[in-house]
Amino acid sequence: MSNIGSYEERLKNFDWSIAEKELGYKDGDNINIGWYCSDRICQFGKADKLALIWEGLGGKEKQYTFNDVRLRSNTIASFLKDLGIQTGERVCLFMDKIPELYIGFLGILKLGAVAQPLFSAFGDESLHVRLDNAETTAIITQRKHVSKVRKILEKMPYLKHIILVDYDGSKPLREREIAFNMDEAEQVENFVVAPTKAESHSVLHYTSGTTGQPKGVKHVHYSLISQYLTTKWVLDLRDDDIYWCTADPGWVTGTSYGIIGPWSLGITQCVLDTGFSAESWYKFIEKRKVTMWYSAPTAIRSLMKAGEDLIKQFDLSSLRHLASVGEPLNAEAVIWSEKVFKKPFLDTYWQTETGSMMLTNYPGMKIKPGSMGKPFPGITATVLDTKTYEPINETGKPGLIGFKPGWPAMMRTYWRNEETYQKKFENNWYLPGDRAYIDNDGYYWFIGRDDDVINTGGHLVSPFEVESALLEHEAVAESAVVAKPDDVNMEVVKAFVTLKPGFIADDDMELKIMNFIRKKLSPLAMPQEIEYRDSLPKTRSGKIMRRVLHAEEWGEEIGDISTLEDD
Ligand code: WT7
Repeated sequence: MSNIGSYEERLKNFDWSIAEKELGYKDGDNINIGWYCSDRICQFGKADKLALIWEGLGGKEKQYTFNDVRLRSNTIASFLKDLGIQTGERVCLFMDKIPELYIGFLGILKLGAVAQPLFSAFGDESLHVRLDNAETTAIITQRKHVSKVRKILEKMPYLKHIILVDYDGSKPLREREIAFNMDEAEQVENFVVAPTKAESHSVLHYTSGTTGQPKGVKHVHYSLISQYLTTKWVLDLRDDDIYWCTADPGWVTGTSYGIIGPWSLGITQCVLDTGFSAESWYKFIEKRKVTMWYSAPTAIRSLMKAGEDLIKQFDLSSLRHLASVGEPLNAEAVIWSEKVFKKPFLDTYWQTETGSMMLTNYPGMKIKPGSMGKPFPGITATVLDTKTYEPINETGKPGLIGFKPGWPAMMRTYWRNEETYQKKFENNWYLPGDRAYIDNDGYYWFIGRDDDVINTGGHLVSPFEVESALLEHEAVAESAVVAKPDDVNMEVVKAFVTLKPGFIADDDMELKIMNFIRKKLSPLAMPQEIEYRDSLPKTRSGKIMRRVLHAEEWGEEIGDISTLEDD
């Protein structure tokens, strides 16, 4: 029997208080995610249970029990406190998937500060934009990433502390830098956890939009209620599970379901901190006896490409349950996983802003391959007419996904950008910005995004950010960035540019520009192709018509350009 039991039964009389009761929380109580994920689990007699099994390059391994996690998060919290970091201040985590990232996250929350995780492959410009918007007080990082921080240091007077978790003394520390060794520090047995309340700010994740700079998504400690229950009912975690979430905590999946969900349930999780290869992933599942695996469509498609012969070399019989998130999970991938792993990947749909799963498939429910499934109990979902924003009461008819606001993990605002936050609502519905339709049985089917944001391998990239960065290259006069179809990543970034006089449009220049973006922004944002043009299509007012180039890439009808011209 799965944790959810029957989906239909759960829908009846559902109330979020189910999770509150299980967590021993009452309205008005203190609630602190850091405490729930460590101290409380120890109080339940699981102090010696493994919380984290970490594996790095070359099979290097580290293990931490829930008591280790409790002590180390205390120690980090206390270290930050001694530096003078106050409640509500933003502390950035800028690290590979090392134990300090997972445990540091809890430490920041225990202090009552705000955890701001950022993907460690971000280049200096991506980093700067996000630290600047958040006016981050401290950043916890590794030697290998600190040069990116140093490069932008002068522009960040608010950033008082750069904490190095792997300082080895070989070179002197520079301005504002300080060393902290999580395992060797004297462990703090008792730390007075900050008396955070339901609405206290907990996490700040950055997400990319079509226009403007990335937006800081504000989450609060009460998000735990839905993260806990979705983990329990959808990921179906049980006490003896070995859980593997492949996402990086630089993104929301890696925090909501790579830290908070599993640890609030006292589950052992493992982390593989190496790059992707089908072989190393299968090896990891076999070695760690992974039972529950939460991954992403691009990874699954890459595994499909690697072929079935490889799978036969491993014993993957420990796998009990699989789920996926981040981008459309095509029917073929679901059918394939059922064939080779004897279990289908269950698709889940949500986003940084929703904080927890919204539409999903449930253990025990009939799976329709290619569908995102049904709303989580307690979530009122619909598909809305694109003009009137009224629910479309007709099955199979496409429209905009809409959610009734008010579930526990919903973002509270965009950091210092309430105006954009308000634009996410129409007719009392929250609009995630995606299009879908609902079938006769109430299953949701994804159609596409309602904006120009590129979803490459499950990561959102803003065309605006890439276009702006391209313009900073000495050779580029104009730029337009769109998604290009791709077998594995679904979409990749493609740039169209015109060059300034005197620069030569050749392969060498293409490589130079690609590298420029990779370093400045990130490998994800790097265009996979740069096409040179003599001019780019523009409206009469001079705005570049991205949509024309997009249609060309996808072999779609361009439609009525005359309306675009007046945009
Ligand atoms: C966007 C959110 C929270 C997960 C990590 C991504 C797309 C997400 C699905 C799915 C089709 C999906 C949507 C969404 N997306 N899950 N199951 N099927 N599309 O979080 O970076 O905030 O991206 O990813 O377009 O809005 P994110």
